Amino acid sequence: MGADLEKVLISKAEIDAKLKELAAEIDRDYAGKDLLIVGVLKGAVMVMADLARALSANVTMDWMAVSSYGAGTKSSGVVRILKDLDTDIAGRDVLIVEDIIDSGLTLSWLISNLGSRGPASLQVCTLLRKPEAAKVQIDVKYTGFDIPNEFVVGYGLDYAEKYRNLPFVGTLAPHVYGG
Ligand code: XMP
Ligand code: MG
Repeated sequence: MGADLEKVLISKAEIDAKLKELAAEIDRDYAGKDLLIVGVLKGAVMVMADLARALSANVTMDWMAVSSYGAGTKSSGVVRILKDLDTDIAGRDVLIVEDIIDSGLTLSWLISNLGSRGPASLQVCTLLRKPEAAKVQIDVKYTGFDIPNEFVVGYGLDYAEKYRNLPFVGTLAPHVYGG
């Protein structure tokens, strides 16, 4: 662990075990259906890759990129689509896959945006959630871990584009982001 990291919050083994549990639930809930999983770039790349491989259901994968943060650590609430879906989701069973729900502002925007396209169903799976940071209430069907209101990195999550490749989720030392 480098000097910028404070501690490991969730180990790779814990993430693997949790994704297997979530995948089993998803397999059960979508049995006999063609599920489209939508990963939110870039943070959800690791979750998508590992969750998708843990699923036995028939899935197709698509990606969306939205921006709500600059290089900093606070949500602006202003969401821009940087890359839209390639798929027409009208009539599809869609599961949004997120790395983390912080204020919930990004996801609530995404839910109403995708919801307006007429999917047969729209649910959310997130690896991490910060209950204390919630500014809007979101109905999340599959949650990995509730975590304290601290800035975390690793397993897809970045600070200024760094640390995404860490195999675990860790907390960043406050001196790194001026906390
Ligand atoms: P909101 O606040 O809109 O934020 O729910 C959603 C997006 O913000 C990013 N985010 C984080 N990224 N460590 C990160 O590396 C964090 O602790 C963190 N909290 C929020 C993330 O991209 C998420 O999708
Ligand atoms: Mg994200």
